[in-house]
Amino acid sequence: MRAPPGEIMFPWLRRSYEMETKPIDWAEFFGNENPVELDVGCGRGLYTWKASEANPDINYLGIELDYKTARRAAGKLYKRKIPNARIISGDAREILDKLVVNGSVQAAHVYFPDPWWKKKHKSRRLFTDDFADQLAEVIQLGGLLHSWTDVEDYWEVISSLMEHHPQFETLPPPAEKSPEHDLDYRTSFERKKRQSGETIYRGRWEKIRD
Ligand SMILES: C[S@@+](CC[C@H](N)C(=O)[O-])C[C@H]1O[C@@H](n2cnc3c(N)ncnc32)[C@H](O)[C@@H]1O
Repeated sequence: MRAPPGEIMFPWLRRSYEMETKPIDWAEFFGNENPVELDVGCGRGLYTWKASEANPDINYLGIELDYKTARRAAGKLYKRKIPNARIISGDAREILDKLVVNGSVQAAHVYFPDPWWKKKHKSRRLFTDDFADQLAEVIQLGGLLHSWTDVEDYWEVISSLMEHHPQFETLPPPAEKSPEHDLDYRTSFERKKRQSGETIYRGRWEKIRD
């Protein structure tokens, strides 16, 4: 399905640089007081869409750097007029820094962050100690971080960063479940990687200290 033009998908799709550079008031943004979860690097938005339909009392914000991909994610929400999910296109690091109030989200999901395979490009990876600190700021006390990847050396970096982070505690990983249909995956990347037989590393951490 071709995504409709971005302009007509407001308020399901926004570009971060067109937004006021002040922290988002979630109640105003979603029109309710429900808790908020972030899908960081949401890609085509399978998780944002499925999770928001399954949990109508939770608001979901997908954040996606690539505008074309963000349009595809927003298209799924726009088509169904889903009230509790939105996409902002922009760099997650800037959005967390400028637009998300500290301690205002109950969970962040970071699924299959780009691995940047080449050694000289690894510094472009999203999940660094600065990013873990940003997540620690925006997640509320008792809130969760979920992150999955199929890239073993990236998993070692992520799990070690999180295990040693003073504000998080490592929780047991979620059990792997067998998909019942083609959309029964956490994300599009999970589908692609599981269908090609890759191992998926799954992590969950709770914020235990402010
Ligand atoms: C490998 S894809 C995974 C997409 C989705 N989470 C999934 O599991 O299907 C990684 C996504 O993160 C996005 N991304 C990379 N860096 C980002 C950043 N700094 N801010 C927001 N999104 C980013 C990419 O554009 C891409 O869509």
